[in-house]
Amino acid sequence: TFVASKSSCNLQLLEDSSVIETPSTSVITLPLLTSILISSLMQFLVGYNTSVLNPVSPYCFPDHTTMQWSISVSALPLAGPMGSYLSSVFSNSLGVKRTVMITLILFFLSGVLMCFSRSMLELTLGRTVAGLASGSSTVIVPLYLGEISPPNIRGTLGTVTQFAMVIGILFSNVLAMLFENGRKWRLLFSITPILSLFCFVFARDYIVESPRWLLVRDGSSKKARFIIKRLRGLRYDEEVEVEVDHILSSSSAQESMPSAYSLFVDPQLRSIMTTCCVLQMAQQFCGINAVFYYSTMFFDGVIDNPLLGSVVVAAINVAATYLALLLMDKCGRRQLILWSCMGMFLSVIVIVFGMKGVFGSSYVALGAVMGFVSFFEIGLGPIPWLIVAEMVHPKYVTPAMSVCSQLNWICNFCVGFIFPIMNEKLGYLSFMPFGVVLLLTYVYSYQNLPDIMPEIGPLKEELEKRRKSIDPSIFESISETLGVDIAEQHKQASE
Ligand code: GLC
Repeated sequence: TFVASKSSCNLQLLEDSSVIETPSTSVITLPLLTSILISSLMQFLVGYNTSVLNPVSPYCFPDHTTMQWSISVSALPLAGPMGSYLSSVFSNSLGVKRTVMITLILFFLSGVLMCFSRSMLELTLGRTVAGLASGSSTVIVPLYLGEISPPNIRGTLGTVTQFAMVIGILFSNVLAMLFENGRKWRLLFSITPILSLFCFVFARDYIVESPRWLLVRDGSSKKARFIIKRLRGLRYDEEVEVEVDHILSSSSAQESMPSAYSLFVDPQLRSIMTTCCVLQMAQQFCGINAVFYYSTMFFDGVIDNPLLGSVVVAAINVAATYLALLLMDKCGRRQLILWSCMGMFLSVIVIVFGMKGVFGSSYVALGAVMGFVSFFEIGLGPIPWLIVAEMVHPKYVTPAMSVCSQLNWICNFCVGFIFPIMNEKLGYLSFMPFGVVLLLTYVYSYQNLPDIMPEIGPLKEELEKRRKSIDPSIFESISETLGVDIAEQHKQASE
């Protein structure tokens, strides 16, 4: 059956009623929705694992030393770069869908290892496997979503993955409260294998292979065309070919993945990569994960209920990411990064003075930590990830994402490992180095970041052009069959 859209601004002929309309030229179809959902659940697991050790530190193998705990926490970001590297190799050779499945298996294994661990060593081993899975997920998910989603919602989807991640962080803290403030830590760790198993079963049938990956291998791939048709809810083969042409023109068929080295040869690409790398380093060296790994330790002795403090911060983090979701397709990337750095810098100043006791109440420091994470989420959180695909030529996106992700995880590891030591040595000044990084990032971005506006992309223009060129008589005959005047709607859409 046909469903004729009543939308006045555009006309969509949709093949089944599982298609949900959006106000623009694109539609969210069922295959697109399920692929987004499963990808988001993977990012949820990354967030969950990022923060799951935060609430349990007093109860999980309680006689551990600070050093043992730092090693276990930072085993995840230490293994992250390896996961990122492997997933870029696998996604290129085995396909995106298979890499998603492998990542889910790794999540499952990590959860089982952590859940049944009998010593800090076994816990650290599980955490290392979680790092491989998380590193892989941070490369494969944005890449996959970028390849399957219509251009005009790419920015929003980039933030959706960040959103899923921060919900994962919040969940690990909220569940810890429910599981006797983290005393039942094995139960807390069991969420990862349960969820990854669920995703694995669904992913087998409900996520589609990336059409780009298929077309790069075989430009005449029928499967790729079929997937594009289903993903976009398209009716006409002609419309499918628009996207096929677009994909083929932006990727050289049969070509092997460019090496990481090639990203730094051409001066223009090198300068883009430098900006991407600076933003990735800034994202981690601004100290965000000091909060999500150690807030319970950091708040200990500062506020009455440190775990509740962590939950509140994680909840504010989710709210701010939602705000980012609204801002991302409206404001320029540069503007958001600048606001983000300045807001975080001012928050650091308040945290430092708050910890020193200047304001009389230590809750001021808690408020400032909330400001810190909120400003992070409107800029430095999502933008370094999504800007890679926006600035780098599609042919180089996979190695570029892989390099950025590896760098990101290495910096993440440094913060995870060093912060407990900084906290011991610097006391109330422990956030000050992050303030310096933020100021430097502000200056760098002010001078070097191009003002990228959220773009709809050339694909939409091309689609509009071809849509206008469709013979209007076809709509008249469909109108007759349906008894609905869709010819008029098409005319309006073309105008
Ligand atoms: C970003 C960072 C990640 C951090 C998260 C917090 O995605 O890459 O390391 O934990 O934001 O929201």
